Parts: sequence; C-alpha cells; structure tokens
Amino acid sequence: MKQQVGIEAIAVALPRRYIDLGDLARARGVDPAKYTQGLGGLEMSVAEPGEDTAALAASAVAKLLANRALDPSRIGMLVVGTETGVDHSKAVASYVQGMLRFPQSMRTFDCQHACYGGTAALNSVAEWIASGAGAGRVGIAVCSDIARYGLNTSGEPTQGAGAVAMLVSESPELLALDVGVSGTCSMDVHDFWRPLGRREAVVDGHYSIQCYLEAVSGSYRGWRARALGRDLIRSAEVPSEQLARIAYHVPFCKMAKKAHAQVRRCDIEDRTGKALDASAEAEETPRAAASFETQVAPSLGLSARVGNIYTGSLYLSLASLLHKEAALLTGKRIGLFSYGSGCVSEFFSGVVGPRAPTAINSAGLDRVLADRERIGVEEYTRILELPADRPLGTPPPPGAFRYAGTVDYRRSYARG
Ligand code: COA
Repeated sequence: MKQQVGIEAIAVALPRRYIDLGDLARARGVDPAKYTQGLGGLEMSVAEPGEDTAALAASAVAKLLANRALDPSRIGMLVVGTETGVDHSKAVASYVQGMLRFPQSMRTFDCQHACYGGTAALNSVAEWIASGAGAGRVGIAVCSDIARYGLNTSGEPTQGAGAVAMLVSESPELLALDVGVSGTCSMDVHDFWRPLGRREAVVDGHYSIQCYLEAVSGSYRGWRARALGRDLIRSAEVPSEQLARIAYHVPFCKMAKKAHAQVRRCDIEDRTGKALDASAEAEETPRAAASFETQVAPSLGLSARVGNIYTGSLYLSLASLLHKEAALLTGKRIGLFSYGSGCVSEFFSGVVGPRAPTAINSAGLDRVLADRERIGVEEYTRILELPADRPLGTPPPPGAFRYAGTVDYRRSYARG
C-alpha cells in the first residue's frame, strides 16, 4: 500500500459562452432573487453542440498536460466520469485518448452513475495507485458533462457545462486522500434520470433534494465512524467542525447550505439521541449559518459562475476552494461529499498538500472564467434548440478541442 495518493494537479475547461441568471430570470418573468439568492447562482455556462462532452474532456486534459509539462508515457490509466457521453458503447475516454494521441499501453474506460461518476473515476485511479498496481505510473480522472433540463423547466436555472481533469499520483500536491476512510449510502430511487434517447434529464426536483439529504446523512455517519476509528477526528459536540472545510456536490449553490445544515444535524442528534426541538433549532440556526460561511462558502465561487456540471461539480468546488484559500489550508483536513442521483453517495476526506498554492495557481482559473463571452437569452435559446450533431462554425481556441462532424456514424474532432 502506497503511503500517499491523491490529486497532484487539476485543470478546468468550460464552454466559451455563458448566460447571466438575472437575464434568464427576467426573461422567464421570475424575480431574479429566486435564482441568485434562492438557488445561489450568478451565471451559467452554455455549451454549443461542438462543445460536447468528449471535446470538453479532451480540452481539460490538454490543459492539465500543458500546465504540468507531463510526459504522456507516464500515464497508465485514463478514466472519464460522465452521464452525458456521446455514444451508447464507445467510451469518452477512447475519444480523449485519440484526441491527445495517448499511448496504447493505457487502461481507458468511462464510469457512469449520474453525478457520482467523477468520484468513481477518481477512486478507480487512486485505488489503482494505492494498491501498487500502477507501478510508479500516474493516472488521470476526468469529469465532463453538459447539464440540460430544457427551456422553461424548473431545472432550467440549474444547468451548466464543463470538464475537470485531475492528475492522480503518489505526489498529491493539492490533496492527499484518506484512502479507505469513506462512508457510502445508496438507494434505488427515481429522483433524476435520463431515459435512453432523451437529451434532457427527467427530474423530480424537490424529491431529489430529499434523496440528497438522506444520502449525505448516511455517508457522513459512515465517514465519521471510520475517521473516529482511525483517530483522524475525535469525539466532540459537533465532530464535523474538525474538518477545516467541506466541499459538497453542488447541483445549485443553495444545496450545499442545506447539506451542511444536515451534516451538523446528524452530529447534534446523534450526540443528544433526539431530534432537534424548536428551542434547539433556534439555537442551531445561527450556528449553522456561521459554520457554513467558514466551512463551505469559500468553495462555491466557481459553481455560482458555471452552474451544475454534474460529475465535475464537486471537483469544481474543490478547485474553487483551493483557488481561494490554499495558503490557509495547507496541512489541514477537508471533507468532500459526492452524490449521484438514482442514487449513490460518498463522504470522504483528504489533507491539503504543502504545495497546493503553487499547484492551484497553475490551473489559471481566473483566466478560464475571464475568457468566456456573455450571451443574451435569445442566443442561449437558439443554442439550446440546435440539433446535437451540429459542429461549431468557428475554430476552437488554441489547445482546445471541438466536435467536427459525423461521417458514417464516426465522430471526429478538431484541435485549435
Ligand atoms: N427571493 C429569494 N428566494 C426565493 C424567491 C425570491 N423571490 N423565490 C423563491 N425563493 C427560494 C425558495 O424559498 C427556495 O429556497 P429554499 O429551498 O431554501 O426554501 C428556492 O428559492 C427555490 O425555490 P423553489 O420554489 O423550491 O424552486 P423550484 O420549485 O423552481 O425548484 C429545484 C428548485 C432546485 C427543485 C429545481 O431547480 C430543480 O429541479 N433543479 C434540478 C434538480 C436538482 O438540482 N436537484 C438537486 C439534488 S441532486
């Protein structure tokens, strides 16, 4: 078993365009405060058909290679987590391998379980390294998705698109994972799904929030028991406060606030052995709000500007947190919660690496956001109504990839 395994570097690729959620709210006749305060979003990335899941994934991996000057012959495994792949059989990982001209010696595959697929990909690579099977090689876990609920739906302001690529190795400069210390919770539920042949997800929105909260309770309790057993934390009034920060899966920013309140509720109710009554609730509400501001809010900057990117959403939160606070957090343990509808979830943890400030700087996240172009509701509507198989008219920016068309059922991609 290797001593240290985790995330060495991270890169984010986004569609070139975004919409302001205030503009969308006004066009839908909704009070903008519902989207900005009620759901917690500011902007939402909009993917054009040429910016498909494979193109976004390859663009993120290309950035990762460029940022780290990584020799592809060192990569033994490439796993893509996605729930919006481009083919029923062929893996997005194969398309990425082809676009990047990666060596044939690699193990490549996709993981699918709604938004949890990215964590399945990360675990696959991390456990391959931790077991020694990697034999000194590194691996890449990529999360890439386009979240579509459709025009004029209640899920519309919670869409988004993007990809996060993570270099996983025995030099976890960003985050050393507590391998083997996690809690999981899964159930067979219809909270969110996408029947075969549909581009848009079907969602029972309010029920999906309940499923998420039930899942975070089970996963967190499982993690807490193992973390106590391994002396990573100690018994206390609110054990979750020993985590310097917690990054949650963020389908919309307010969900992280609800999840954090639920984690604290688990701590308090498990200690007292009874549900919070009205007076305990009144005492807890301001405490939970203060704890959210410290432990969670610093991870939400990117999600508020990008929206939901399904598998990559948790890792966008991690990138956002380190971008904002890496210097404060080196050597500290943080928690992470991954949720995939259907459903499965996992609460896990890791320690921020001593070189995290430098490692996250090389991701250039301010530039990734600044390079985007704002579009209005009319253009956003036109894009969402385009057929999926429409290549982008304009060439991709330098280093990025775009879907270039399909001939004889074979998809091809162009590099800028
Ligand atoms: N000003 C401020 N806040 C407002 C507001 C206003 N004018 N109007 C409404 N709100 C608040 C509501 O109080 C609510 O907050 P709360 O949950 O803390 O009470 C929030 O905005 C959302 O309002 P709601 O009426 O519940 O929205 P909705 O019925 O349109 O649906 C979702 C919201 C999230 C269910 C919907 O967008 C959805 O289905 N999204 C996709 C699924 C998803 O992301 N699931 C998450 C788990 S995976």
